[in-house]
Amino acid sequence: MTVALAPAGTKALPIHVLGTEDVALWAGQQSDRIRTWVEANAFKGSIGTALIIPDDAGHPETALVGYGTQATRKRDRFALAAALPKLVPGTYRIESGIAPDDLEQEALGWLLASYSFTRYRESTATHPTLVTPDGVDAARVSVLAEAEFLVRDLINTPASHMGPSELESAARALADKHGASIAVTTGDALLADNFPMIHTVGRASDRAPRLIDLTWGSRGPKITLVGKGVCFDTGGLNIKPGSSMGLMKKDMGGAANVLGLAHMIMASGLDVRLRVLIPAVENAVSGNSFRPQDILTSRKGLTVEINNTDAEGRLVLADALTYGSEGKPDLIVSMATLTGAARVAVGPDLAPYYTDDDVVATSLDLSARRMADPVWRMPFHDPYETMIEPGIADLDNAPKGGFAGSITAALFLRRFVSEHDRYIHFDIYGWQPSAAPGRPKGGALQGARALFESLPVILDL
Ligand code: BES
Ligand code: MN
Ligand code: ZN
Repeated sequence: MTVALAPAGTKALPIHVLGTEDVALWAGQQSDRIRTWVEANAFKGSIGTALIIPDDAGHPETALVGYGTQATRKRDRFALAAALPKLVPGTYRIESGIAPDDLEQEALGWLLASYSFTRYRESTATHPTLVTPDGVDAARVSVLAEAEFLVRDLINTPASHMGPSELESAARALADKHGASIAVTTGDALLADNFPMIHTVGRASDRAPRLIDLTWGSRGPKITLVGKGVCFDTGGLNIKPGSSMGLMKKDMGGAANVLGLAHMIMASGLDVRLRVLIPAVENAVSGNSFRPQDILTSRKGLTVEINNTDAEGRLVLADALTYGSEGKPDLIVSMATLTGAARVAVGPDLAPYYTDDDVVATSLDLSARRMADPVWRMPFHDPYETMIEPGIADLDNAPKGGFAGSITAALFLRRFVSEHDRYIHFDIYGWQPSAAPGRPKGGALQGARALFESLPVILDL
């Protein structure tokens, strides 16, 4: 699938984007013929509406797309994309009505709306094409859309076709595309190389656990991304009920998102030394599953009492974060579908993140708005540290009571980086529960685009 805007100058039907308050004024400035057509079709400029205006011979001459009001635009992303189902196939260009600062976001929404997951069924849908608006960097918007398509494809692929080895293949394909290097530690080699918790969580599956380590770039600051790659999460011996297990193919959503972010970084040639670490495992039930009350020793040497085998993400991430931290990066980021508690707190749309660095937070919040990728800062609340400290080991993987479940998971992860590291942790959902403009139901990019946009500020590039 090509994900691209048409070059400027391509023959196209002009679109006037009109808010509800602009329609009467615009129509008043047109010929009787056009004014009559707009009124006869009751075009009011609401979001999600469009009107094709024909010329005297009945051929399309102009398109109107509704832009609502500032208040209705705030209720969703991608107001332009909302009208795409109402446009006949063809090529369009934006003639008026969108502020220059918003053109990139609306163009991106247009591209994102053209996604379909075609691995198991071809798509017959045809999508209108948009000509690159003035001042928009077509290559950049393509890269942003490709990244999101990669994330969606990886998450949407069922666990039977997206196990640890297939996730490795996807990382290798991305590495090949960008000339990155990749090293993978698999199965018992995880024990020999001191990744004990990745091995423990993944050993019950007949699909071997592994740590994927992709590196790219030879100059500039070091950024290390760690993504949770639990290809399926049954919960282990603390098995999930069917209703909670149903969506757990998406438990590698963090891995998918860091790969999407890596694509954006590499395709745009940022001056950074990038590393992507993905502990890829399946949390399965078998005779050799790890058990409640087992005590694991992590790569860092901290001992962890298992109080719930379903709190597996933090275990595999812990060893990967320690390893990442050993490389002394300038920034270390984890992305993970880590807790149900994060969903209860902020729902499926917002990507909650944790950082102790106020500069990072300010930059991320701004970038999130610019990139239509909303994030929300959560606290690394130090007084809750006691909640993750059990009696007979250093750490508890699943504090009783469940208070502040996303925060305690974040605090757990923070123990495994160095206190000198600049660290950001995202506790994402990775899934769009029902279709919205530019966001079909299914796997979703979250936080990665906002982070990409803020890297030049955070890393002083
Ligand atoms: N993958 C889940 C978290 C999850 C659940 C993300 C639903 C998105 C939607 C994770 O491995 C998990 O099961 N977490 C437990 C932790 C608990 C046992 C401490 C949770 O959140 O219930
Ligand atoms: Mn789990
Ligand atoms: Zn999980």
